Amino acid sequence: MSQNLTTQKRSAGVSGYIPNELQPSQSSGVAGSDGSVKPHRCGAAGRALRVAYADPPYPGMSGFYKEHPDYAGEVDHEDLVKRLQTYDGWCLHTASTTLKYVLSLCPDDARIMAWVKPFAAFKKHVAVAYAWEPVIVKPCRMRKYNGLTTVRDWCAESITLQRGLTGVKPETVCRWLFEAMGMQPHDELHDLFPGTGAVSIAWKKWKEQSCLTAA
Ligand SMILES: C[S@@+](CC[C@H](N)C(=O)[O-])C[C@H]1O[C@@H](n2cnc3c(N)ncnc32)[C@H](O)[C@@H]1O
Repeated sequence: MSQNLTTQKRSAGVSGYIPNELQPSQSSGVAGSDGSVKPHRCGAAGRALRVAYADPPYPGMSGFYKEHPDYAGEVDHEDLVKRLQTYDGWCLHTASTTLKYVLSLCPDDARIMAWVKPFAAFKKHVAVAYAWEPVIVKPCRMRKYNGLTTVRDWCAESITLQRGLTGVKPETVCRWLFEAMGMQPHDELHDLFPGTGAVSIAWKKWKEQSCLTAA
């Protein structure tokens, strides 16, 4: 028992998340249609996982998107969280003002991470700016600590302006979340609220870069 705990602590590294259900798969490649396990061309280990990236209009804020073709009223967050649970891993953006409600819908083992914004929109008459956003993260697999890189549970990145939509996610934020979710380049990313498509573009770039690094 104590040996198991020691092993878990060591493999968790300083990033410290160690839930048992997130232990890495034992296989060393990608499962083929015949059930055999083949090494992935990027050298990635384990089967490909399905991961959802959810960046919905935050509760009570869908009105920002009234003019958009994909606008469909308020997003039912209870349904959304149920849908997210059908994936191997997921992340869900929300606001600090709606965190309490959204978190009450989420499983206990989801983590709260923070996107902090060195440059953010300051509003008139708001003396204490809203300059960070929570992201609720359910990793698809546990990252193995390699002695070199530890992913933080926060990311400092300024908002981007003039990208044609409120709430477009900067590439750095997306990349941070791909890493925090323990994604590998052969995984499947489902961008549930694509907006400008920035998340999928960031995913494509991250995948390509990860493959090059592994080559
Ligand atoms: C925060 S934005 C997504 C931004 C996107 N991640 C990006 O980086 O461009 C939310 C998107 O959901 C769309 N939307 C609004 N109401 C919706 C609804 N009820 N169901 C699904 N999508 C909705 C909005 O029009 C908008 O495109």
